[in-house]
Parts: sequence; structure tokens; C-alpha cells
Amino acid sequence: MPHSNPEIRPQTAADMPAIEALHDHAFGPGRFVRTASRLREGVAADPDLSLVALVGGRLAGSVTMTPITIGTDAAFLLGPLAVDPDFENRGIGGRLVRATLERARAAGHRLVLLVGDPPYYGRFGFHHVGPDKVRLPGPVDPRRVLVAGLVEGAFEAVSGDVSRAGF
Ligand SMILES: CC(C)(COP(=O)(O)OP(=O)(O)OC[C@H]1O[C@@H](n2cnc3c(N)ncnc32)[C@H](O)[C@@H]1OP(=O)(O)O)[C@@H](O)C(=O)NCCC(=O)NCCS
Repeated sequence: MPHSNPEIRPQTAADMPAIEALHDHAFGPGRFVRTASRLREGVAADPDLSLVALVGGRLAGSVTMTPITIGTDAAFLLGPLAVDPDFENRGIGGRLVRATLERARAAGHRLVLLVGDPPYYGRFGFHHVGPDKVRLPGPVDPRRVLVAGLVEGAFEAVSGDVSRAGF
């Protein structure tokens, strides 16, 4: 597949119908009951870190970052990340993840957590973290709980329950 050169910019309200359609297709209606979704309930996505990729004006992919708390530390939950099947394997998912992590680092944020496939996210600096260190508020495959520190040693002193920011 050729590499596309998508436009990457923050999500806007006008993008939401297309993003919802992409999520429906990628994850199905069961996505709303997942533990990661529940962490996003009632919490606004970060408007600067939640991005879309557009190819020829069409939505090709999106990534969302939502504030959470780990123990007493502020962090972000990365996800959903989804790429339209018409645009898969062109590097768009990777561009979205790298772009949001770069923006988060530039804004002075330190911690990102997600629930996802280790072989995919390992390339962006995510690594597994065990339930002894970080506990999610619902059922989750512990092998899929991954974190990335945006500065050296960011996760060293961090542990505890993961909860919705502000709750
Ligand atoms: C996962 C997803 C975001 C990848 O987007 P993409 O734009 O195709 O990804 P990229 O082009 O940046 O990367 C493609 C590479 O990742 C690999 N890859 C894709 N999904 C993978 C997975 N689940 N596990 C391991 N590797 C994966 C591809 O095989 C490809 O490998 P290569 O570079 O060696 O050829 C996209 O396939 C998608 O939306 N899937 C459905 C929703 C989903 O699973 N989201 C992630 C939640 S964990």
C-alpha cells in the first residue's frame, strides 16, 4: 500500500458524525460497555490532543485522548484509535499516535495509558503495566493494559486506581 500524506488536525464538532461512524464500524456497539469507554463517560476529550487524519478531505482515521487519573497523578487515556479500512496499512494509525504523543509531550503532559494490542503499540513506546501497579475500574485483559511515559522515568512513582478525571 502506498503511504498517504494525510492532513492531521484537531477534531472538531463537525467531525463527530464521521468519527462515530468509523467507531461503529471498527468496534461495534459493544464498545460502549468496555472499561476504557466507561473511563471516558462524562469527561470531555482533550481538544488539542484528539486528532483526525484527512485524505482528500475524507476522514481516514482518528485518535482521542481523554484525561484520567492514575492514583493521584494526571494522565491521558489514548483511544479509540481507528483507521478507515480503505486507508489501513498506509501509516495513518502510526501518524495519529505519534502526533498526539508529540503534542502531549510538548504541552508538558507526562503519562499516557491505553487498553490495546501490545504488538501494535510497542513501536510507539508503550509497554505493559501489571495490575499490581495500575488497576482499572472494570474487567480488562491485563496483558492489554499499556502505558507510555512522555518524559524519562515518568511512571516510576505512579501507581493506583485508574479513574475518570474530576470524579
Ligand atoms: C489498528 C489500526 C488503528 C491500525 O491503523 P493503520 O493505519 O492500518 O496502522 P499503520 O499503517 O500505522 O500500521 C500498520 C502496521 O501495524 C500492524 N498492525 C495493525 N494492527 C495491528 C495489531 N492489532 N497488532 C499488531 N500489529 C498490527 C500492521 O500489520 C502493519 O504492520 P507493518 O508496518 O509491519 O506492515 C487499524 O487497523 C484499525 O482501526 N483497526 C480497527 C480498530 C482497532 O483495532 N483499533 C486499535 C484499538 S487497540
